[in-house]
Amino acid sequence: MTELELRNKFLEYFRKKKHAIIAPASLIPENDSSVLFTTAGMHPLVPYLLGEIHPEGKRLANFQKCIRTGDIDEVGDDWHLTFFEMLGNWSLGDYFKSESIKWSYEFLTKELGIPNEKLAITVFKGNDDAPFDKESFELWKDQGISEDKIYMYGKSENWWGPAGITGPCGPDTEIFYITNRNPCSKDCQPSCNCGKYNEIWNNVFMEYNKISNGDYEPLSQKNVDTGMGLERTVAILNGRNSVYDIDLFKPVFQKLRQLSSITDLVAERVVIDHVRSACFLLLEDIVPSNVDQGYVLRRLIRRAIRQARKLGINTKFTQDIANAIFESHIELYPEISKKKEFILTEMQNEEEKFARTLQKGLKVFEKELEIFKNSKKKEDKFSGKAAFYLYQTYGFPIEMIEEELKDNDIELNRKQFDTESKNHQKLSRNGAKKKFAGGLADHSDETIKLHTATHLLHQALRLVLGEHVMQKGSNITTERLRFDFTHPQKLTPDEIIKVETLVNEQIQRALPVTVTEITVEEAKRKNAIGLFEKKYGTKVKVYKVGDFSIEICGGPHVSTTKELNSFRIIKEQAVSAGIRRIKAKVQ
Ligand code: ALA
Repeated sequence: MTELELRNKFLEYFRKKKHAIIAPASLIPENDSSVLFTTAGMHPLVPYLLGEIHPEGKRLANFQKCIRTGDIDEVGDDWHLTFFEMLGNWSLGDYFKSESIKWSYEFLTKELGIPNEKLAITVFKGNDDAPFDKESFELWKDQGISEDKIYMYGKSENWWGPAGITGPCGPDTEIFYITNRNPCSKDCQPSCNCGKYNEIWNNVFMEYNKISNGDYEPLSQKNVDTGMGLERTVAILNGRNSVYDIDLFKPVFQKLRQLSSITDLVAERVVIDHVRSACFLLLEDIVPSNVDQGYVLRRLIRRAIRQARKLGINTKFTQDIANAIFESHIELYPEISKKKEFILTEMQNEEEKFARTLQKGLKVFEKELEIFKNSKKKEDKFSGKAAFYLYQTYGFPIEMIEEELKDNDIELNRKQFDTESKNHQKLSRNGAKKKFAGGLADHSDETIKLHTATHLLHQALRLVLGEHVMQKGSNITTERLRFDFTHPQKLTPDEIIKVETLVNEQIQRALPVTVTEITVEEAKRKNAIGLFEKKYGTKVKVYKVGDFSIEICGGPHVSTTKELNSFRIIKEQAVSAGIRRIKAKVQ
C-alpha cells in the first residue's frame, strides 16, 4: 500500500463514520501560538477541544504535516523521523472511548488487514490525577485483544498533552505493531525502545484541562484526539523493518549512496531525514537564521552536512538529495512544485555558508579536544568558552558541539557557554530550545490578550502604511506578540507612534470582539483579512473587533478591547527583503 492509498483509505473510512474532512493546517502555527511547529493534528484544534464550536461539526478527520524536533536524537533508529504525516480523527464532545477504540481496531484489522496477533496495546494505569482507564482495557478485550497483550503504564507512557504548559490532555491508549525482529530481552515490552514494538496509532481521551497551577480540571466536554503515523504504518503494511525502508525514501537513499564513499546507516538516515524536514520548512517560507524556526532549519541543514562528511561526501549534495525528495514526495504534497527553486537555492546558500567554516572549525575543535584530554581532571567539562568560540566564529550549532563531545564521552560546560553567550548579547538559544521540544500555546489570559492585540496591530498597520501590508507570520508568548508583515522599508519613528496610538485608541474605545461563522467567499466579500488561500475549509470563523478589524481566525480572543489596557511596540526590525517584524506588549 502506498502512502497516498493509506491516507485516502483513512479519510474515507472516517468520512463514512460521519467525520468532516478538514483542511490540514500549516506546519508553522499561525496566531496565538508560542510554539515553533505543528507537532500533532490537534494543535490547530485546541480552542475546539476546550469547548468552542467548530464550524465543520463535532466529528473531524484530516492528514497533517508535523515536525517534532524533540525526537531529533532518536533519528537514525528504525522508527523516528523529525518530519512526518499524522492521520487523525477527532470527537469534539461527541463519541468517546467505545467508538474510538472500536473504529481504530476495525480500521486496522478489517480495512488494513493487520492480524489481531500483531497488535499490542497500552492503557493508562492511573495516578493521583486520574484513575486507571479500566474502560479502555475492557474495550480492547471486547475487540478480541488478549489480556496479556494489554500493558498498563503510568503517565510517562500513557498520558498525552497538554502540548504546552496548559491545555487539553488526558489518558491515552496506544496501539503497537509487533514486528518480526527479535525482542531485546525476555522482558521486552511496548515501552522498550529496541524497535520490537512500533507505535502506530494513539487514541487520546481528552477530558482534562491542565491549568496554570498544575491542576487538572475536568473539561466541559469529553474529546477524542487520535494520531496515526503515516510513514510507520505504511512501513509495516509493506513488511518493512524500518520507516526508512518505505518506497518514499528509496530513490533518496539511492542518490545519497551514489554520492557517498563510506557506508554508515545512521548517518545516511540523519542526512535524509534532516534534508527532508528542511525542504518542508523552506516550503513554508522559513529561511535559515539564528532565531526560532529559522534556527531549527539552520541546525537541521548543518547537522545534515556534518553527517554527510562522515559518509565521505565533501562536495555540495543538498540539492541532489532535495531533488530526489521532491520526486518521491510530489504526489503526496503537490504544493512542492511551486517552490522547488526557492527551496534549492536557500538550501544551497546555507550549505555553502557552512561548508566554508566547517573544515576550519573542525580543526579548531580537534585542537581544543586534545588540550582538554591532556589536561583532564576527572570531573572536568569541556570549556563553554571554547564552545562559544566555535559557535560564534564557525557557526557550529551548540547542539552539534554537544553531540561531537558526546561521541568522545565528554560533557560540555553548558552553563559557561550560556553565560558566555549572554555576555556577548547574542540572541539566546534558550527560548528557541524550550520551544524546540514542541508544545502548544497555553491559552492563558496573556496570550489571549496578545492575540487580540495582533488583530488590532494588523489593521493599524494597513491603515497607517497601506493595504500592501500582509501577514507573513505571527507568534505569541506570554510576554509579547511578534508579527511579521510585508513592507518594503523600515518604519519611521512617526509611523511607529501612529500605529501605537491607533491601537491604543481602539483599546480605549472598549470595542466588543465578536465571532461569526461564514463561508470563505462571504468572508472575502466582507473584506475580512486572513490567509484565504491557505488552509480554510468551506466555513470559517471571522472575528470582528468593533468596526475596526475583521479577520479570519480560530480564536480565542478577549471579549472587549478594554481588557488589553495599553499597547506598546518594543521593537521594529527587518526579517528579510520586504518583510518587517514588530514585537509588542500589552500591559
Ligand atoms: N495528539 C496525539 C499524538 O500526537 C494523538 O500522539
